[in-house]
Amino acid sequence: MNLTRLVLRNFRTYGSLQIEFDPGLNLILGSNASGKTNLAEAIYYLSLARSWRAPNDRVLIKDGEAAAQIAAGLMEGELHRSLEFELSKEGKRIKLNEKPVRKLSDLCKVANVVLFAPSDVSLFVGAPSERRGYLDVAISKQSSDYFALISRYSRLLKERNAALKAPTPNIELVRTFADQMAELTSPIISYRAMFISSLNDILPSLYERLSGQKASCKAVYRPFLKGADISPERAKKEYEAALESDLAHRATGVGIHREDFSLVLNGDDIAAYGSQGENRTAVIALKLAPYFLIESAAKKPIAVLDDVTSELDADRIHRLFEVLRNLGQVFVTATELDIEGASIIDVASNNAKRRI
Ligand SMILES: Nc1ncnc2c1ncn2[C@@H]1O[C@H](COP(=O)(O)OP(=O)(O)OP(=O)(O)O)[C@@H](O)[C@H]1O
Ligand SMILES: [Mg+2]
Repeated sequence: MNLTRLVLRNFRTYGSLQIEFDPGLNLILGSNASGKTNLAEAIYYLSLARSWRAPNDRVLIKDGEAAAQIAAGLMEGELHRSLEFELSKEGKRIKLNEKPVRKLSDLCKVANVVLFAPSDVSLFVGAPSERRGYLDVAISKQSSDYFALISRYSRLLKERNAALKAPTPNIELVRTFADQMAELTSPIISYRAMFISSLNDILPSLYERLSGQKASCKAVYRPFLKGADISPERAKKEYEAALESDLAHRATGVGIHREDFSLVLNGDDIAAYGSQGENRTAVIALKLAPYFLIESAAKKPIAVLDDVTSELDADRIHRLFEVLRNLGQVFVTATELDIEGASIIDVASNNAKRRI
């Protein structure tokens, strides 16, 4: 899919912007604080109706204004779609082909955006919640069933934790929540295990293409239930075994909300052994991998890479663009970059213009 046209009103630094994009490689160039990330953020917003770096929509509205609008034209093969967002204090209104959108999960089928953000560099060394976030977003984009499972699990977890925090916890209620969470455990683990396994079909060659070095590169999943038995009965036993400790800590200490995965590069955990460049290359590979998991060319995601080239040496930058060139529609922000054949968007003075 690709983004043909974007119209912004009062979004971040942009008062009024109308711009058309190339279906291939688009470089968003400009000096620091000129509005490059703001533009990338508007493109990402189309897929999830939220930003990756803003806590709420309020900060996305231009200072002093009451509302912001984003309108976009998208192509999926021959199919044209329009998306419109209105962000205000009252909340957000979304329209797809001029009809209101009620389920946010429908959005990513219209505008599936794969993102690399500067903060992703710490994905492997950072908290496990960041890695689970990656898994949940990537798998939800492939399966709305997984999205529903995860949402339900999160709701149950919240209720169980609230029950554990009650002045006198109702043990039977706490057990009932655990039983319901146990029922969701095995399908969620199966989805995650399957996704990690498909990642591992792609990661080694992608890492090699990006780094130019022969390397073994493997994501290792750390599931809540280890071994072959992932039945609800087994999960119930684990929750029951942790009940005393959960009551003492007034929180749920075990479950799929504590799962994690690591990345092993040439036999070593990249979080502990990897260089900055290796971490960055591995994160880029991980972020781009979902692109290769989607078979249909028309449905391939739009890639948005914010500030991806800093800290990469010239050889790795060259390799990265060799990969990006063949991906489809790609947006890359940078202060300066010279890539042959790319379409350039110059960002300056609260405006963005396509260079002719
Ligand atoms: N809601 C808003 N209203 C007005 N200006 C805003 C708003 N949100 C952010 N800005 C301004 O946008 C500017 C930052 O834009 P952005 O993050 O896109 O810069 P950038 O071009 O990506 O810079 P860098 O190269 O440093 O990453 C800041 O000067 C910030 O004050
Ligand atoms: Mg930026």
